[in-house]
Amino acid sequence: MNTSSSLYARRRAAVARALKAAGGGVALLPTAPEQSRNRDSHYAYRHDSYFYYLTGFDEPESWLLIEASGKTTLLCRPKNLEREIWDGIRLGPKAAPAALGVDAAHSVERLDTLMPQVLANQPTVWFPFATHHGLQTQVEGWLEQLRAKVRLGVGCPQSQRDLCGLLDEMRLIKDSHEVAILKRAGKISAQAHVRAMRTSAAMLRAGLDAREYHLDAELLHEFRRHGSQAAAYTSIVAAGANACVLHYRAGPAPLKAGELCLIDAGCELDGYASDITRTFPTNGRFTPAQRQLYDLVLQAQKAAIAATRPGKRFMDPHNAAVRVLAQGMLDTGLLSKQKHGRVDDVIESGAYRQFYMHRTGHWMGMDVHDCGDYTEPGTRARQETDATGQTVMRRPSRILRPGMVLTIEPGIYVRPGKGVPREFWNIGIRIEDDALVTAQGCQLLTRGVPVEPDEIEALMRG
Ligand code: GLY
Ligand code: MN
Ligand code: MN
Repeated sequence: MNTSSSLYARRRAAVARALKAAGGGVALLPTAPEQSRNRDSHYAYRHDSYFYYLTGFDEPESWLLIEASGKTTLLCRPKNLEREIWDGIRLGPKAAPAALGVDAAHSVERLDTLMPQVLANQPTVWFPFATHHGLQTQVEGWLEQLRAKVRLGVGCPQSQRDLCGLLDEMRLIKDSHEVAILKRAGKISAQAHVRAMRTSAAMLRAGLDAREYHLDAELLHEFRRHGSQAAAYTSIVAAGANACVLHYRAGPAPLKAGELCLIDAGCELDGYASDITRTFPTNGRFTPAQRQLYDLVLQAQKAAIAATRPGKRFMDPHNAAVRVLAQGMLDTGLLSKQKHGRVDDVIESGAYRQFYMHRTGHWMGMDVHDCGDYTEPGTRARQETDATGQTVMRRPSRILRPGMVLTIEPGIYVRPGKGVPREFWNIGIRIEDDALVTAQGCQLLTRGVPVEPDEIEALMRG
């Protein structure tokens, strides 16, 4: 076993220990299916993150089985010269134990024969609930086969349990291998944002017809030239008013001098995401109104960063950002003091949501919106009032611990409207960085691209 396969073996052993501690059983974990795009074309293959976390293996049609005893089995595509000529080399079951450190490997063609054998006499079958379409039905089919044999003395699992919770807890705290990749991914993505900013200013200086898709192309170029396999999610490149559409994509809209451009883009590197947003003036110079709102979002991000440290809760950075933004909305006249009162009233009423309607962060890791419970396990739900005024039961949010990775991404989005100061119309600003919680506070992994407005202007001049 090489160093990297021993890493996955250690993770599998931790799963086996957790299964044992929870009463035993066997865990079944398929990877992701291939996805058809149109006719006989497929999307580029992307493994299932849980599966990859425990194997480092990225061939489709693979399964991992972990028994509480510690035994691990891989099912994978059999060697097939004809298919390998068209689609590429397959590892094959014979080579899998040495390459991946599993105890046994079989052809996936034997799945339906093997599964009832593996499940026989196990107390519990663990698999990821509600993540793989049809998996529940498949498991039921294998259990039915076992049930038919109980008269012969074969034991059928008495319970089915969700594997996700157990794996989510492991993935929530990143190990040193993961942190190293996340840092590299953050660095590449930051360089891509720098490249896009420079391209925007250079194209406008040269009088070229610059479009959102030109910057999208620059991002992808920078991702790929540093070895990233793909964008971690569809990049947003939003010129002018498009920035107020939260899930906008890069389209053909022109980058106009005097307007802002919001880019939310990050690469995926070796199975790990990065997630950066920067907002910059297309020609490299903020107008006074843009600068006023930009400074406000930046202050909100700084407040959120200060609240991202061990012992704080997941919602503390959000609450810190909201307070700064809400005060800023009153100070800039986005919200009228007469109508909305003071900052506490604006927070209480939720009036700030007219201009800031999303949360300030999410877990990040293998998936850009990574797994992990946002509430503190083992705590009791308490009564709260949600955004719509309804009473809901909520558990307190998660206590931050070293090794967690989350984004910090406040924003402000001003759609034209009655009573909204005209100079702010159609301005959409978000600033997003990825933070690793450390023993002392947090480390930002994505600051290879500046956030200070003067630094952005200087970079775009150069
Ligand atoms: N890029 C996705 C997000 O910021 O949540
Ligand atoms: Mn994000
Ligand atoms: Mn983002």
